[in-house]
Amino acid sequence: MNLKPETLELIEKTVPQYPEKRSAVMPLLHHVQKERGYISNEAIEWIAERLEMQPINVLSVVTFFPYFRQEDQKIGKVHVRVCRTLSCALMGAYKVGDELEKKLGCKMGSSKEDGSVTLEYAECLASCGSGPVVLVDDDLYENLKATELDGLVDEIEKRVSKED
Ligand code: FES
Repeated sequence: MNLKPETLELIEKTVPQYPEKRSAVMPLLHHVQKERGYISNEAIEWIAERLEMQPINVLSVVTFFPYFRQEDQKIGKVHVRVCRTLSCALMGAYKVGDELEKKLGCKMGSSKEDGSVTLEYAECLASCGSGPVVLVDDDLYENLKATELDGLVDEIEKRVSKED
């Protein structure tokens, strides 16, 4: 698989950090998805070989975590992920998700037709004490309220209209 040299370098640094190679499967999937945008069958086989695992075991990780995408689904210009794991769910994450769907005109789990926004639920974003949280590209927004999302929506729209 032709990964960028910087991704390969990251992978080579990551693997020795784990006492057992197979434990590096999550970070490796993350590095590959960050570069490619999704996990192909070729990537599954490549990671399996690199970590001396069976491809089926890598595939089961990919299918278990909704964060990993398998098909070549193009991500919109702005990627919005709403954490729906327990702490955030209890603090109103689904209401935030519903409201963002309405305000952005984008169905959860899909991209807008013009390619401007992708809206998805995600699993724990490691900020459970300040939920509900939403990740906009690489920036985390915390303590959100479904009734007070105008600032967040403005920020998303600003990013959509920003020149590349
Ligand atoms: S549960 Fe949402 S960040 Fe952990």
